[in-house]
Amino acid sequence: MTDAKVAIYPGSFDPLTLGHEDIARRSLKFVDRLIVSVAHHPTQLKDRMFSVEERVEMIREVFADEPRIDVADFTGLLVDYCRKVGARIVVRGLRAVSDFEYEFQMALMNRELWPDLEMVFMTPAGEFTFLSASLVREIASLGGDISQFVSAPVRRRLEARA
Ligand code: PNS
Repeated sequence: MTDAKVAIYPGSFDPLTLGHEDIARRSLKFVDRLIVSVAHHPTQLKDRMFSVEERVEMIREVFADEPRIDVADFTGLLVDYCRKVGARIVVRGLRAVSDFEYEFQMALMNRELWPDLEMVFMTPAGEFTFLSASLVREIASLGGDISQFVSAPVRRRLEARA
């Protein structure tokens, strides 16, 4: 067992935005290793723009410069996944009060399921507080410019898809 602090940053990341990227990079101030992990459930697949494999691939490209960030995916309960990979910290972004209720409920439920897990909430840079993956998808699908909201590997795939 090592003392290295490993955290999971779970999410749908469909696709990863600059807001997600900002949270992931900021978290390296207090964790040694971050695993950005795409959560998926077989019944959700048809509602998604990008497959799990595409999302993982894009995120790997975005963080290619950062050896302390790994990218993975998981199904099932977040707490089971954290236990399996040996992570006791989960990072989540909080953009606005509207995120709070859902996040608070999930955090308390996860604590019921595994009391050793700590959820850490981070605020992104101010310019990303309005940003969401669903708005980015909508803007891209309607031909809008999303270059200021996502990194180049994500932008390329969104433009190819539009
Ligand atoms: O980016 P999202 O969609 O807001 O992320 C939500 C996510 C993936 C963190 C959440 O749905 C989750 O943890 N899913 C895994 C299944 C699980 O553990 N559900 C119980 C949560 S209390």
